[in-house]
Amino acid sequence: MSGSTIIPWVVGNWKMNPMQANSQQLIQDLKQQLQQQPISEQQCHIGVAPIAIALLSVQQQFADAPNKIMSVAQDLSRMAGTGAYTGEISAELLKDSGIEFVLIGHSERREIFGDTVSVVQEKVKNALNANLKIIYCVGESLAQREAGQAEEVVLQQICDIAALVKAEQWNNIIVAYEPIWAIGTGKTASPDDAQAMHAKIREGLSQITPLGAKIAILYGGSVKPENAAELAACADINGALVGGASLNAESFYQIAQAFAKSKE
Ligand code: 13P
Repeated sequence: MSGSTIIPWVVGNWKMNPMQANSQQLIQDLKQQLQQQPISEQQCHIGVAPIAIALLSVQQQFADAPNKIMSVAQDLSRMAGTGAYTGEISAELLKDSGIEFVLIGHSERREIFGDTVSVVQEKVKNALNANLKIIYCVGESLAQREAGQAEEVVLQQICDIAALVKAEQWNNIIVAYEPIWAIGTGKTASPDDAQAMHAKIREGLSQITPLGAKIAILYGGSVKPENAAELAACADINGALVGGASLNAESFYQIAQAFAKSKE
């Protein structure tokens, strides 16, 4: 029991995975798990972020799932609307296809694909203008943590977007704290460390918006069934952004269960 009134979110970030046959199997298995032991939307919101070309097909395949499974885009263009931008997908085009959620600021985009602060800001602006809901990712590197800069870095990342979000648009923001050193490494932040950072993020958000207490703050970084319950028990951890473990239906389902149960 976390004591929070925020309904948790468990979102699987499939990253550049899996092949089509495995994706179909994963969806089928997840639907089966949910049929056997349903998780209601009052207990936990569930979403998956597949590769862009699979967004619509995944959404359709989940259409007959026992509860709504959100299809989340992993990225969007820094260009808005439509136009001659080869290879890009704008916020408006996502919205037009029935996609409601998008990840922005994931450390892999920042580190590998050159999403600088200004690119991230443009993406946030575009997503908000198109009325998409954003899962905004923040997190420090190992070097930054070891230098005692973790809080400063993460709060700065929150401040980076503060001026772009209009008062009522904070309803469309979910924050995901993903310490970079915990992503794909098997190293999870301890529940105490994660909770401490989530509390700082909540404090920062509350200084920016009266909606600060209501914004879901997800934890990401080697979340697995073995550590989900203790993370879910933390007051300011309102869900998980799951990478590797979301590619296995049973593991992903168990993580969602752990968060759903934290509401009981
Ligand atoms: P892992 O769960 O594989 O560490 O990935 C976390 C992540 O980056 C989710 O966006």
